Amino acid sequence: MLLSTKNILSTKELTKQDIQQILDTADSFKEISTRSIKKVPTLRGKTIINLFFEPSTRTRTSFEIAGKRLSADVINISGSTSSAVKGENIIDTARNLEAMTPDILVVRHQCSGVPALLSQFVDSPIINAGDGAHEHPSQALLDLLTIRSHRGNLEGLKVAIVGDITHSRVARSNIKAMQTMGMKVRVVGPPPLIPVGLESLGIEVSHNLTTAIEDVDVVMILRIQLERQNQGLLSSLREYSNYFCLTAKALAKARDDILIIHPGPVNRGIEIALDVMESPRSLILNQVTNGVAIRMALFYLLLGEGNANPN
Ligand code: CP
Repeated sequence: MLLSTKNILSTKELTKQDIQQILDTADSFKEISTRSIKKVPTLRGKTIINLFFEPSTRTRTSFEIAGKRLSADVINISGSTSSAVKGENIIDTARNLEAMTPDILVVRHQCSGVPALLSQFVDSPIINAGDGAHEHPSQALLDLLTIRSHRGNLEGLKVAIVGDITHSRVARSNIKAMQTMGMKVRVVGPPPLIPVGLESLGIEVSHNLTTAIEDVDVVMILRIQLERQNQGLLSSLREYSNYFCLTAKALAKARDDILIIHPGPVNRGIEIALDVMESPRSLILNQVTNGVAIRMALFYLLLGEGNANPN
């Protein structure tokens, strides 16, 4: 069965069946990354272009590794070394890349909506690898895979998402995907960092970290975006940390088996304490590992290989 969408621009457009299929396919691909020769011929002859206009460690590397593990040819382009610096606009850049007949474009951009815009000008499927404060759908999918791998299912699980909800593309993608999968979402943070009106979307809002995580299965800590500190939304990082850093003390009343996730990069000691980050309940590196499997699954399913044997 193929996905109901040609592009991965947002988790809003993914059905429950789509998400289940992506997670199941990713699960079936995990084993490839444990082999001594980590490569299968599934996407031999396919060409993937990673077009990154914003810095990235995890997302860009895992898209590249995912393509290579499936034997696709992968080309990486960063905004700072492309002809964008000479003034070429993003639509022309994408159309020129498409003239070289790639099979898929992976796009990260600092402006919300760029991957969706490009999808109107090129025929190749586009994966949004993070656009401004809008969405980061493959991150949400790898988060769901990580949670499902540890809990067996997603339906009915309670999640607290802590931090700058307003500016987080990770939160936006996760909230939609988690609700689609029947999970209960609570957001936690200081009032300036939480959009108004979330309750009407079925999302609980809390401003108290300790009580908000008492009954949840999963706590997702978001990165405090230091680049936004000049917007006057926080009085100081120290004050934020005093109230919202995930510490052992804040976790004292939480479930013993609570799962702790964070999309990275981490500001150590600001949003999560060092000992919590390194504790067995922290799945941060497990998320990164799962990112490769999720991106392999997205390539495989979007390139129309969904009915073939992946191995
Ligand atoms: N989680 C995430 O998107 O990390 P990078 O910015 O390093 O890709």
